[in-house]
Amino acid sequence: MIFGVDYYPEHWDRNEWENQAKLMREGGFNTVRMGEFAWKLFEKQEGEFDFSFLDEAIEILAKEGIKTILGTPTAAPPKWLVTKYDVLLRDKYGRKREWGSRRECCSNSPDYIEKSQIIVREMAKHYKDNENVIAYQIDNEFGCHDSTRCYCEHCQKAFSKWLKAKYKNIETLNKKWGTVFWSLQYDSFDEVILPGYTSCEGTYGDRWAHNPALDLEFSRFSSDSWVKYQKMQIDILREYTSVPITHNLMGHHSSIDYYKLSDDLDFVSWDNYPDNQWGTSEYEYVSMAHEIMRGVKDKNFIVMEEQAGAAGWDIVGQTPRPGQLRLWTYQALAHGGEGMVYFRFRSALFGMEQYWHGVLDHDGVPRRRFYELQKTGRELQKLEKYFVDNKNDYDVLIEKSYDNLWAHGIKSHAKGYNYENHLYSFYKANADKNVMCAVSRGDYDKYKVVYLPAYNIVEDGKVEKLTEYVKNGGTLVLTFRSGTRGDSNEIKPIALPGVFSELAGISVDDFDAPRRPVKIKGKAEGNANIWCDIITPKTAKTIATYDSEYYKGNGAITQNEYGKGRVFYIGCDLDGKAMAELVGYINETANVNTVSAPNGVEVIRRNDCIILLNHNESEAEVDMKGYSVLNNCEFTGKLDGYGVEVLKR
Ligand code: GLA
Ligand code: ZN
Repeated sequence: MIFGVDYYPEHWDRNEWENQAKLMREGGFNTVRMGEFAWKLFEKQEGEFDFSFLDEAIEILAKEGIKTILGTPTAAPPKWLVTKYDVLLRDKYGRKREWGSRRECCSNSPDYIEKSQIIVREMAKHYKDNENVIAYQIDNEFGCHDSTRCYCEHCQKAFSKWLKAKYKNIETLNKKWGTVFWSLQYDSFDEVILPGYTSCEGTYGDRWAHNPALDLEFSRFSSDSWVKYQKMQIDILREYTSVPITHNLMGHHSSIDYYKLSDDLDFVSWDNYPDNQWGTSEYEYVSMAHEIMRGVKDKNFIVMEEQAGAAGWDIVGQTPRPGQLRLWTYQALAHGGEGMVYFRFRSALFGMEQYWHGVLDHDGVPRRRFYELQKTGRELQKLEKYFVDNKNDYDVLIEKSYDNLWAHGIKSHAKGYNYENHLYSFYKANADKNVMCAVSRGDYDKYKVVYLPAYNIVEDGKVEKLTEYVKNGGTLVLTFRSGTRGDSNEIKPIALPGVFSELAGISVDDFDAPRRPVKIKGKAEGNANIWCDIITPKTAKTIATYDSEYYKGNGAITQNEYGKGRVFYIGCDLDGKAMAELVGYINETANVNTVSAPNGVEVIRRNDCIILLNHNESEAEVDMKGYSVLNNCEFTGKLDGYGVEVLKR
């Protein structure tokens, strides 16, 4: 099992490397990731290649039994590149993103592409026979620092081409986009603009001012551009090596379609910082991020950067409490991780990330974080079979769609509405009942319940597929703002919930973005705050009604028996309590396994083990028996604060 650290030998005096490698070995680390920001060292001036520092580091580490994951260095362009060539990204105001940080480059810049090809090829050639290189990471965190969209001339040209390939002729585009609105018709693909700064922006806050079709297509195009850029690197590496290739993704991040991005990868890896200077994530939010990362390929992942200390750039984030690094490790593994790499081995003395603490502090002295991970690593070597190539028993699927995410971002329907929060509200309600919940897409038959929240842009064949699933006994959950948009983000001339009307057995004849909290009663009791569909049931029965406003007594949530299965339609947002009740009812109806545990205790089930995670600072008592394979004894039911258990099933 990969148990490693992110390592930057270039940040340390050469005479420290041997000792650092020894210390890593002592910590139980068997892998490092290196190289992903060292372009300038590899190519000091254009065409002058020198990998000697990395060769030496790889060698020294190998002597201690430590293997290397190699990052291609394209996320941090050297100065000569940006001085000589037109590679820098332009923001929506046309401003050049100046060099001085990282991720300043445009994925459609021909020069950036060419110079990337050259350095990647040199690297691949140089390391093709090096047996200590066990995997490649392409670049570093595509999309990070708001770098997905670029508004330069290269992107404009590439966008025109991309649109032409999709729409074939400009009349089709005009029609689909409805450019007749405000005289926005184009005479050729070359004329199509990028959705940069224009007149309405500012007047309406940060709402986009552009044609919603243009905006959505630009999101897709920008995402595709990075997918293509990544593929370019993969293809080069593949000419020289057969080691697995990954990229370090960012969990909930959503400017790039992670399904597409991960299609070309052998495995997904990702970077997890649950508690950094920008905030502390709820544990369910972190679990969901892991599930997204597992779900994009429906395959286990590794964590390429796991938080190892207090994390911040200009201020120091909260210090992980004793036990938390271990807990976060098991949390990752429980949700589909099968390898851990901690960021970073030793805290940097200089540069932007001086406060982003690693396993070791600035002085390099091993302290409690080092020893906690050392202990964790030792445990894991014994438990490997429960994690590597192992899998959870999922009952429930939440489908995440990047198209819908972007479309809802362009027109969010109501103040306070956010598609990702909407998805999370369902994940959290399920996770709090310890329901095994995947976040992915497709393959509905594997699940007892499929949540398809706010699925507004519906691709061809989707309704048929869902109908089959429900007919065969599946439970489908739909929500407000679904089923009425087409591929170009246009609204279809049909009533809500559009293409899902028959499945849901309802019509929505009126709706409200409420002025004040609206009461709901029935199978869910509480308030709606953001949206209320006023439902007329057809074949469905109403299971919750509104209890205030002019639509008091009307349907808020319905249930439609359909074939051997059923379809729930949730017409409004629900506060935490109402959501918990409704999800409880859905689970009951669909025979979903739930486990009750104290607040903050997570229970994850696999066919051969149960993993218990206590996210509370204080001890917890769990009503569960079993043999602890972690401690080789009967489980007492007691979990320490931030404690972990792995029970045999
Ligand atoms: C990201 C990057 C790393 C580093 C850490 C900490 O995840 O991939 O290079 O910047 O954040 O900030
Ligand atoms: Zn560009």
